[in-house]
Formats: sequence, structure tokens, C-alpha cells
Amino acid sequence: MRITIVGTGYVGLVAAVCLAKQGHQVTAVDREPVIRGLRAGVLGIWEPGLEELFADGRASGNLRWETDVVRASLDAEALMLAVGTPTRPDGHTDLSQLHEVLAKFMHHGDCPPLIIVKSTVPVGTCDELEVSLRETGLRTEIVSNPEFLRQGSAIQDFMYPDRIVVGCQSPYAEAELRHLYARIDAPVQVCDRRSAELIKYAANTFLATKISFANMMSDLCEGYGADIRQVMAGVGSDRRIGPHFLQAGVGYGGSCFSKDLQSLLTSGKLVGLSLPMLEATAHINEQRIPRFIAKLISCWGNLQGKRLAVLGISFKPNTNDVRDAPFLTLLKQCQLHGIAVQAYDPVVQHVPYDGVHVADSAYTASVGADAIMILTEWPQFVSLDWARMAQGMRQPIMLDGRNLLPNKAVERFLEHDAAVYIPVGRSVVSCWGD
Ligand code: UDX
Repeated sequence: MRITIVGTGYVGLVAAVCLAKQGHQVTAVDREPVIRGLRAGVLGIWEPGLEELFADGRASGNLRWETDVVRASLDAEALMLAVGTPTRPDGHTDLSQLHEVLAKFMHHGDCPPLIIVKSTVPVGTCDELEVSLRETGLRTEIVSNPEFLRQGSAIQDFMYPDRIVVGCQSPYAEAELRHLYARIDAPVQVCDRRSAELIKYAANTFLATKISFANMMSDLCEGYGADIRQVMAGVGSDRRIGPHFLQAGVGYGGSCFSKDLQSLLTSGKLVGLSLPMLEATAHINEQRIPRFIAKLISCWGNLQGKRLAVLGISFKPNTNDVRDAPFLTLLKQCQLHGIAVQAYDPVVQHVPYDGVHVADSAYTASVGADAIMILTEWPQFVSLDWARMAQGMRQPIMLDGRNLLPNKAVERFLEHDAAVYIPVGRSVVSCWGD
């Protein structure tokens, strides 16, 4: 199929390289500086397997680049929209990038027969876009086809999804989408467009709710000396619940969960609904970092000249994305309390904020620190020499915000005098054995 994809962020770029790999003729469109970067081989995002597929696409000729969306779509059978839809400060979703693209086709007076909306858009958006197109005489059909890929495993998720959701109006659109995804072995759920749009929000906010539920239970575990890992293992092994997204920690981050939750709350308000469960999910998440800071303050007594070493800057492992990362909330809170931050991340080497020094290794970050906090569960943190980490510190206190460290690593850390290990949803362990 000949397809034009607008937007080369996580969703657009991953869709472009994967569809090219599957034999489609893909033209990816973005703004001039981004396309210049792509032409020079600069991808802008870091994702396992992406570079290889990108190189494949270029070599096969299935992947091309353009800055002019109309020119790129002259003989395209479908136009896929994967532009950003950020949440505005008033809670409404900013659809200006989508409108901008469609305005170009309306002005041109022609458009590919099918528009596939991959961007996450509030329920009813596809209907509204189609009305605007009709008003200018364009007969294009709009399909809602939300994407569920996760950063860090984006290629895998795109190629092997749990399902493909297609919200469409006609057998023609359904047949085209089935053709587009013919090489992907996954059930295709065909439904109306509004339901398809809502599935994406419902899925993301449900996952966020599972995480907040686990975090709430972890506080209760701490209050009663239970172990959240055991509790959630027991809960998650019930097949009606499932084991995923029940890991307690510093709270969810990333560009999707908070944004989609706020957007859904706004959609609720627009039809007079308050969605209290989602309010609670957001509230629990907002309280995570302040709760860890309170633990630190109670360990330290006073905050005078305190230094915190932070391991992990990206919002999750295997990505360099810092958007809405718990790290940013932590940094703000530390600045508020006058705590200096020295951070290390295997991929993120620069943070565009004051008040943080990014170290070149975990060991350097820990030197002179009054506590270490693990924020992201990068697997390489497990194999650090934890006795060496403790030795360099001013006070060997560790907050394991992801329950990452196995007993062996904790034992090594606790070899040091006065060392304290503070996990999530479990009892605190010190070198004195209490
Ligand atoms: C999410 C959705 O999973 C994906 O389907 C959608 O398309 C985009 O949003 P992503 O934001 O890439 O994907 O990451 P995800 O793996 O879902 O993690 C989100 C956040 O939740 C991370 O900060 C992660 O650390 C946190 N998390 C996840 C937990 O705190 N506990 C868990 O058990 C799982």
C-alpha cells in the first residue's frame, strides 16, 4: 500500500519503519529540521531495534521523507496522522497539529481517500474532522486506529500487538485497514469510531489505575509490615486481574498516562461527569514523590546541605524520554527543600533544568551523597558494586523507589556502617538488622 505518515515521533516513526519493513511504500512527513535530521540518519528518539529497521527501510527504498504533506500524498492510498495531541493547561486536548495538516488538503482541494487517525484524540474528534472535510467538498473517510505501543518496546509492540482497533464507517475502510495490517498476526476489533477513540483512553487510564492501586496498597503494606511484592503476586495470579502493571514504586510517568487521564477527565466534564476513580488515580500518583521526600526528611532530621544521588532520569528503562518523568517532580521538590541533586542515567546525559548535576557514572553520582534514590529500574543498576556505592557516600541511605535490588545487592550495601535500605511497600532494613 502507498501510505503517507505525518509526524515522526514515537508512534509515527515506529509505524513508518515497521510498515516499510512489511513491504508498504511509506513516505514520512515532518517539519524541515526533523526531516533534515532523518535524512542525515539522526532519529531523535532512542528505541531498541529502531536504527536497524530505519536502515532497512532506506536500503529497500520503501521508506522516504518529505516536508510537504500534500506533495507526499499525491498518489497515496491512505494518510496516517501521528502528530502530537498535547493537553493544554486548561485540560483540553490541543488538536491544532491535526487541524493544520487537514487545512492543507482542504486548501489543495484533494486528499487521499482514507485518513487514519493514529494520534490519541478525544472521543468525537474523527466525526468533527470528517464534518470539516465534507464542508469543503472532500469525500475522504476518516478511520480511528489508536496505537498501544509502549516506549522501550515500541517495535515489538507494533509488530506483535494484543489487538488492532479499527473504528470505521464502511466495509471499504475496514478492508483497507485489514490490508495494511495483513502481515501482523493479531485480532482486529472493528467498531464505531467513537468507541475506538475511547478504547485508547480507557486502556491507558485503566493501566494507570492499576498502578495507583498498587501504590496505595504499598502504603498500607508499610503501615502493617506486609510485603507489597507478595501481596501483588498473590493478587495478580488471579487470571481475572492479571500480573501486569501492579508494580508499586515512584508512580507512573511518561507522555501518555497523565495526559490521557487529564484529557478523559475533561471529556467527562464536557458531558457533566466527574469520573471520581480517575481523580483518585491522579491524586495517588501526585502523592508518590512527596511521600518519598517525607521519608528522606524523617531520616535526615534537618536538610542543611543535603545531597541526593538519583539513579535513573528517564521515565522508564530503555528510553531516553524524560517527559513527565518522576525525576522532574523529584527535582522540583528537591529544589523547594534546598536538596542538591546529582543524577546518573545510562542513556540521558543532559537535563535542561537547573539544580541538577548529571554524573558520568552511578559511582560518581553517589560520591558524597546523603542518600541514593533509585527512580528508574534500569537493569544495569542491579549489578553495580553496592558496597562501593555505600563507601563513597556521606550517609549510606538508599531509597529503592522501584523495589529493584535483589537481596544480594542489598546485603552488600548493608555491609557499610549505619547503612539503611528503604524499599517500597516493605519494611525498612538497616545494617543493625532492624
Ligand atoms: C503507555 C501504554 O502502556 C501504551 O499502551 C500507550 O500506547 C502509551 O502509554 P508508555 O508510557 O510507553 O506506554 O509506558 P508504560 O510501560 O505503560 O509505563 C508507564 C509508566 O508506568 C512508567 O513510568 C512505568 O515505570 C510505570 N509503571 C508501569 C509502574 O509504575 N508500575 C507498573 O507496574 C508498570
